[in-house]
Amino acid sequence: MSEKRVLLIIGGGVAAYKSLLLIRLLAKVGIKTTCIVTKAGEEFITPLSVGALSGERVFTDLFSLSDEAEMGHIELSRSADLIVVVPATADLMAKSANGFANDLASTTLLATDKRVLYVPSMNVRMWEHPATQKNLQTLKQRGALFVGPVEGDMACGEFGFGRMSEPETIADTVINTLAGDTHIDALKPQSLKGKHILITAGPTREPIDPVRYLSNNSSGKQGYALAQACIDLGANVSLVSGPVALTPPKGAHFIAVQTARDMLGACEAALPVDVFIAVAAVADWRPKTTGSKKIKKSKQAIPPLTLVENPDILKTIAHHKKRPPLVIGFAAETHNILPYAQAKLKRKNCDWMIANDVSGDVMGGDENTMILVTKDKIEHWTTQTKQNAAKQLATAIAKHIGT
Ligand SMILES: Cc1cc2nc3c(=O)[nH]c(=O)nc-3n(C[C@H](O)[C@H](O)[C@H](O)COP(=O)(O)O)c2cc1C
Repeated sequence: MSEKRVLLIIGGGVAAYKSLLLIRLLAKVGIKTTCIVTKAGEEFITPLSVGALSGERVFTDLFSLSDEAEMGHIELSRSADLIVVVPATADLMAKSANGFANDLASTTLLATDKRVLYVPSMNVRMWEHPATQKNLQTLKQRGALFVGPVEGDMACGEFGFGRMSEPETIADTVINTLAGDTHIDALKPQSLKGKHILITAGPTREPIDPVRYLSNNSSGKQGYALAQACIDLGANVSLVSGPVALTPPKGAHFIAVQTARDMLGACEAALPVDVFIAVAAVADWRPKTTGSKKIKKSKQAIPPLTLVENPDILKTIAHHKKRPPLVIGFAAETHNILPYAQAKLKRKNCDWMIANDVSGDVMGGDENTMILVTKDKIEHWTTQTKQNAAKQLATAIAKHIGT
């Protein structure tokens, strides 16, 4: 059985030192690393320390006869299951996006037929520069994967996007990307066998009269994908869903609801469970009264619509006497995403919060960029399909409570 191997390309950025911890984290789960260090990278870390941690020869020169005799740059580019550029400097992204091949790193990136995961790290102005953003789009369009950068303090004293993701997050992304290759123990899916997981999904519909209602754009795709991912890991899943145009996953205990009050009732009835995940976009308000007959259109007056607050399902379950041991909320926000998610985590007594930016076309779209916020950590996950985001969350749950 062949082992998993990652080719790390270590660029010349201040965060290069974090690649050393990444090598160790990958080694712990049985993933071998071959490393290329760029000339600029050598200014930040030594090939000696990289070699000592990876336990392998480190490659630095394109025109090294011994390197070529031992392993040519083409072979180097093909020998790994995944290439990880860490840190991905503005320069390496630019070279890659534009097809430059004037050193070992860029030649390898041009020659490879393998997936490439870029882990950008740079000053916020460099990151926001239109040239870097264009290179980012070019690389993404070609199928490159990205993790980070995240917002935070930088070595240069500035604050903003450009800070490299932490090695643990990068390692998780690598493992997730390589998952499915079951001969590495740590890559075998953790099991959720015997665990009962309650998931809400979709919008709620709050009737105004028998033919009209208040609702929102939630498609239910993320909640349904999560139900499927948990079932795939062996969980017993109850899926409480508002009206959506999706087929419930096979094997889920499916409960269809319309209103927020129905949804809360169905969730309470499903308790006790091991995990509660509130993915549904529950309407905050409902009409105070619901007409039993269709309200007639009249030329004289527009009917008034008085709203009252709906029950807070997440908060109610998180304070319930049968509170599940793990309560996970979703915080869909269009701005100030992290502070809102952190405040919501506390206010609603949750254990984890998944923050996601819904300012684009996330609601109804096929991709999601999640940030996992817990009481003691923040993990920025890569932009990925809702199915892959669901797999990553299900795996994180399995690691936390799994068997
Ligand atoms: C002290 C110092 C820190 C640097 N940090 C970064 C960085 O974090 N990200 C980046 O993109 N470039 C950074 N640079 C610039 C790169 O080192 C430079 O663009 C270099 O050509 C990159 O080479 P490489 O992409 O082949 O590794 C830094 C330069 C210096 C002198």
